[in-house]
Amino acid sequence: MKRLLERLYLPLSGLLLLLFFVNSSVSAAIFEGGDVVKGEQLFKANCAACHKVSAEPLVGPGLAGVWDRWADKDALLVKWIQNPKAAAESGDPYIKDLVDKYVGKFGWMANQTVSEAEIKDILAYVKTGGGGAKSAPKEPNNKCLTLEEVQAAAAGKKSGDGLIWLIIIGLVLAIIAISAINISRSLKNAVNDRDGLPSEGNKTFWQVVKSWLWNNKKLVSVIGVLLICYFTVVSYNVLMDIGVYEGYNPEQPIWFSHNVHACQNEIDCQYCHSSAADSKHAGIPSANVCMNCHKGIKEGTKTGTVEIAKIYEAIGFDPTTFTYKENYQEKPIVWNKVHNLPDHVYFNHSQHVTVGKIDCKQCHGPVQMFTTGRQATIEEINAQEDVTGLIKLTKPTLTMGWCIECHNKANIDLTSSGYYEEMHNRFKTSEVGQRTLRSILEDGEVTVREMGGWECGKCHY
Ligand code: HEC
Ligand code: HEC
Ligand code: HEC
Ligand code: HEC
Ligand code: HEC
Ligand code: HEC
Repeated sequence: MKRLLERLYLPLSGLLLLLFFVNSSVSAAIFEGGDVVKGEQLFKANCAACHKVSAEPLVGPGLAGVWDRWADKDALLVKWIQNPKAAAESGDPYIKDLVDKYVGKFGWMANQTVSEAEIKDILAYVKTGGGGAKSAPKEPNNKCLTLEEVQAAAAGKKSGDGLIWLIIIGLVLAIIAISAINISRSLKNAVNDRDGLPSEGNKTFWQVVKSWLWNNKKLVSVIGVLLICYFTVVSYNVLMDIGVYEGYNPEQPIWFSHNVHACQNEIDCQYCHSSAADSKHAGIPSANVCMNCHKGIKEGTKTGTVEIAKIYEAIGFDPTTFTYKENYQEKPIVWNKVHNLPDHVYFNHSQHVTVGKIDCKQCHGPVQMFTTGRQATIEEINAQEDVTGLIKLTKPTLTMGWCIECHNKANIDLTSSGYYEEMHNRFKTSEVGQRTLRSILEDGEVTVREMGGWECGKCHY
């Protein structure tokens, strides 16, 4: 028996090895060896709007089990993700089923601009069922706290600590005061006893306090006046803040949270404010833009279905049948505009965002921490740590002083456009031009002001 096993040992283990190899070449190689952490980021940025890693459908099918459904079709899967229509032309029966099942309902999946290596990372993440990257200890997502939560935490800590000490000190003082009063009363009674006078009797604590207050009328009224002054000043300051435009935060028709979208779900500002890059206005997204995602996402963590239902109401979408109602009179969502420059001022987003390459947050602050879009204060803007090359300004946002101050501080990158090169060359050809150029370049920097950014006509109609 032993000899038999020894004889069979080699061939058996060879067979096992062979089986192992055959098996692993059958299971899809594209799902093995990718970088799960990178894959998670890529998935969130490119796919999460339409797919969940679980089996649950969103705008597209849930991706759990795709490794079985696409086993043996690595190349075709890559092709599908990069260009679904082209992949469908292969005539593959699985893809045919997929298209029959979903395209009528959701339309074609859009071409994804991800490389094959990136797809490998994404699929590695998908195969972990979403747990892979997360199972590594994830630091608490502090960066997605709202401003209110950060402030509440800071205030709570401070006033909480302070309050406890105040209470302790108050209690100690009260105990000392009560015992002092008791001791002095016992002493007085003892003295009265000795001198044969009637004792003071057992006055209560409050009676003693009252008679003390009565006996010290002057001191008490001074303290009273001081307290009244203090509360007047405090309430005056609160009232003065009401008219200030910075921080203006009106009610909106839908509880739309920048914190949920721009931070927790990492949606790029320009996905929604797409016209900021190439036109005057940044614009507020229409309900159609919301529907790119909310066709699938019917429920939020904080507001349940109530707020998202308002998008459906606006556009006439029935989430139960997954169809748009026919002949529906759309009810546009009327957002309350927060930023308003006077009519005589000209401001252009693309000039600043695309040409000047200024981060939205330089002018709008930590919008991803706001629950609603609102005008940031200059303090909030200056406190940001995640904006590269942040220019710290002092004037309130949207005032002329603010525009001017930045134009005096912000430099222009002369290599950034042909327009500046052209201007540069023109300066060089005349003597006056050369002199101007020398004075501008004296400090080695060209500010917006030096290029005409302080001319009244540039900003005023
Ligand atoms: C705009 C929505 C959308 C985005 C974004 C999107 N998909 Fe899709 N995907 C779909 C839809 C819809 C289908 C179903 C087929 C169809 O209708 O085209 C689908 C199908 C698939 C399938 C086939 C699923 C199955 O069960 O066999 C895979 C795999 C897939 N997508 C992967 C991805 C990956 C990876 C990304 C990100 C790089 C991505 N998709 C981004 C909408 C999307
Ligand atoms: C999912 C879509 C979406 C994303 C992403 C988004 N926004 Fe908004 N934004 C809106 C909507 C809707 C409003 C109008 C409601 C409001 O004011 O809260 C708005 C309002 C604003 C306003 C106020 C506009 C005004 O004057 O009324 C600013 C400023 C703003 N967004 C900046 C940003 C910045 C900066 C980012 C990126 C950090 C960003 N948004 C990301 C949808 C979005
Ligand atoms: C790119 C995808 C995307 C777009 C575009 C988008 N949303 Fe959302 N929205 C989400 C995601 C993801 C959630 C989070 C759902 C959750 O809490 O699980 C969400 C949540 C919400 C919620 C619920 C928040 C909560 O926590 O209760 C509301 C309300 C909402 N969105 C409104 C809008 C409106 C209005 C628009 C259009 C101006 C819009 N969304 C555009 C992806 C999107
Ligand atoms: C140089 C400062 C600056 C930068 C950079 C900037 N904005 Fe603005 N933004 C403004 C001013 C000023 C207004 C008010 C415009 C008005 O009332 O005409 C405004 C208004 C808006 C509004 C209200 C709607 C509108 O178009 O008037 C939105 C939304 C907005 N900005 C989003 C963005 C986003 C998103 C970015 C980044 C892509 C961005 N902004 C970059 C200064 C800036
Ligand atoms: C955070 C800095 C910053 C703020 C704030 C700012 N700007 Fe600018 N602005 C720039 C920069 C940088 C440029 C130059 C862009 C370029 O051409 O390279 C510029 C250019 C301009 C131009 C074109 C100037 C020219 O010479 O052609 C106008 C007009 C303008 N800004 C208006 C405004 C107005 C109005 C405001 C206030 C509501 C404002 N800007 C606030 C940085 C700023
Ligand atoms: C970089 C842009 C910019 C330049 C350059 C500029 N302004 Fe202004 N100006 C503004 C903005 C923005 C406002 C509105 C905000 C405010 O009222 O503070 C304003 C407001 C004013 C007002 C106040 C109007 C009112 O309703 O109270 C006057 C007057 C004015 N500007 C005159 C000038 C003159 C004169 C020049 C040239 C020396 C000039 N501005 C250059 C941006 C500019």
